[in-house]
Amino acid sequence: MKFWATPYHYNLLKDQERLSAFYEAIKTKSRGVVFDLGSGSGIMSCFAAPYSDFIYSIEIHTRSAAYAAENLKGWKNIEVINSDVNGFNFTCKADVIICEMLDTALIDEEQVPVLNHALKYLNSGGVVIPAGVLNGAELVSMKNPGLVYEDQVKVDYTVLGSMVIYDSLFFKEKIIEEVEEDIVFHLKKSGKINALKLTTFTLLSEDLICGPTPMLNPPLFIPLDELYANKGDKVTVNLAYTMGGGLDSIQTKIKNIS
Ligand SMILES: C[S@@+](CC[C@H](N)C(=O)[O-])C[C@H]1O[C@@H](n2cnc3c(N)ncnc32)[C@H](O)[C@@H]1O
Repeated sequence: MKFWATPYHYNLLKDQERLSAFYEAIKTKSRGVVFDLGSGSGIMSCFAAPYSDFIYSIEIHTRSAAYAAENLKGWKNIEVINSDVNGFNFTCKADVIICEMLDTALIDEEQVPVLNHALKYLNSGGVVIPAGVLNGAELVSMKNPGLVYEDQVKVDYTVLGSMVIYDSLFFKEKIIEEVEEDIVFHLKKSGKINALKLTTFTLLSEDLICGPTPMLNPPLFIPLDELYANKGDKVTVNLAYTMGGGLDSIQTKIKNIS
C-alpha cells in the first residue's frame, strides 16, 4: 500500500517501535466514534478503521490533510477534516480520542491544550490513546551544556544519580498546563552538575508503556547553573514550564544542597 506523507510524517511512519505501540493500543481500544487529533498522514485513523464505526481525522496542516484524505479514501467510515482542533466545534461525542501530539514532557507540542479542549466531547466511559505519560528527570554533568534534544546532536554526559519520576499525567482528566516541581535528587556520584535530562514514557493504555523511540519523545537536556556536588548529597532543583508553551517557558533553579 502506498502512503503519501510529508518528509516529517514519512520519518514518523518509519519509526516501527512507535507505530507498533500505537497499533497495539488502537486495535485493543477502538470502537464506536473515534476522533484522531493531529492525524498527519492518517496512519492512526487507518489503524482504527477496522474496529470503529466512524472516525473524524483532524489535521491542521493543509498538505498533510490532503495526503491523509488520499491515503484513507478507501475507508468509507473516515472523514478527514483540515482544521485546528483548538476551538473546533465537534458535532458529536467520541468513544475514543487518539491524539499523538507528544513530545518530551509535553512542553513543545499541543497535546495538553488540544486534549483539554477535546475532552468536553468524550463520552463518559470513553478512552484516550495514549492514556498518559510519566516524566522522569536525572541530574547530569554535560560536556557542552545546552538546551538540546538527544536526537539532534551527540550528547556527551554522565548521569550523577537515579531517575526521579516527578510527574504522572493521565489524559482523561483536564490537566493544568503550568508545571512547577521541586525535584529532590540523591547523588550516587560526585561531579559537576550542569544539566537536567528529562525522559518521557508514554502510557499507551493501562498495561502498555513505551519509552523514547527514534521519533517519539527524545530525551531533553536542560542546562542548570553549574554546581559541584558530592556522592550522597541531596540536591533540590525547581523545574517550571508550561505544557504547550514551548521550550522558552522552561525555568530552572537549584534550590538547595545538603
Ligand atoms: C507528531 S504528529 C503525528 C501525526 C500522526 N498522528 C502520526 O502519528 O503519525 C502531530 C500532528 O499534529 C498536527 N497538529 C498540531 N497541532 C494541531 C492542532 N492544533 N490541530 C490539528 N492538528 C494539529 C501536526 O500538524 C502533526 O501532523
